Amino acid sequence: MSEACTAQPIIIDTDPGYDDAFAILLALAAPELQVLGLTTVAGNVTLDIVSDNARRIVELAGRPNVAVHPGADRPLLRPAAHAFDIHGSMGLNGYDWPPPARPPSAVHALDWMLQTLAASADRTVTLVALGPQTNVAMLLRRAPALAARKLRRIVCMGGNYFAGGNASPAAEFNILVDPEAAAIVFACGIELVAMPLDCTNTALTPVDWISDLASLGTEIGTACAGMMGFLKPPPGQATRPLHDAVAMAWMLWPELFEGRLCNVEIETASPLTLGATVVDWRGRTARPKNCLWINGCNAPEMYARMMERLARLPG
Ligand code: BDR
Ligand code: CA
Repeated sequence: MSEACTAQPIIIDTDPGYDDAFAILLALAAPELQVLGLTTVAGNVTLDIVSDNARRIVELAGRPNVAVHPGADRPLLRPAAHAFDIHGSMGLNGYDWPPPARPPSAVHALDWMLQTLAASADRTVTLVALGPQTNVAMLLRRAPALAARKLRRIVCMGGNYFAGGNASPAAEFNILVDPEAAAIVFACGIELVAMPLDCTNTALTPVDWISDLASLGTEIGTACAGMMGFLKPPPGQATRPLHDAVAMAWMLWPELFEGRLCNVEIETASPLTLGATVVDWRGRTARPKNCLWINGCNAPEMYARMMERLARLPG
């Protein structure tokens, strides 16, 4: 069978964001994955900017026909919250991105996901959620039976348990921005893989990452090196992690990761710990095991493979 026949179909729900950009590029470079389309959600920056950014990324990768469908412009119940301080004013700062040649699709993310899942074979599509989980929660509320029948699994970047939060002392950004959405996703009963800060914060990019990207000699290498150069590592760290790209790497190379099937619940009430992901790591409750919680990986090997894939992209 050809690679195209065996490639896993995926939908990427995203808020680019520098690490979203690496994740999307990695997926587009992977013959093991068939990217059905991108849906966008307000997160790192506003919905209009992340949607344009998603277009910029697919066009830079030489895949302009991958459609971008804008979704939720704010969380289910709360006001929008962004991370301009990390990702810059346009979300992908550090490279002189041209405006997208094509606008995002006029078809809303939710409508497109419903159509796409309805047309898919049962238990085939993986939904990779790289931003606040508003669109995913809307899908699960609107069409729970369709989602359960058509989705193979949901893989999300989000949460923290052993690591501290990055958006509050207790919570990771994607979960904190829309905790009610995350609570719906984690309770949905569909196979779920979470890539939390517990793993991604231990998977820092190699020290030569920026110069190796620049050495690719492609426009993609230049863009990726530029974005990484814009981001200053936190005090005491030589480099930064690529959270969302680590989640996409799990799709390709799960053998490089460690984790445990656990119960995970989302805190939605406490003002002190809002958005905390409460992981029953030691099985102290009888609550159902709803999530494969990833807590470690072979980062050097993962980044070596990621670089090799990025080098395959044209441009
Ligand atoms: C997550 O938050 C966003 O800022 C990143 O794109 C990533 O999805 C990391 O906490
Ligand atoms: Ca993201």
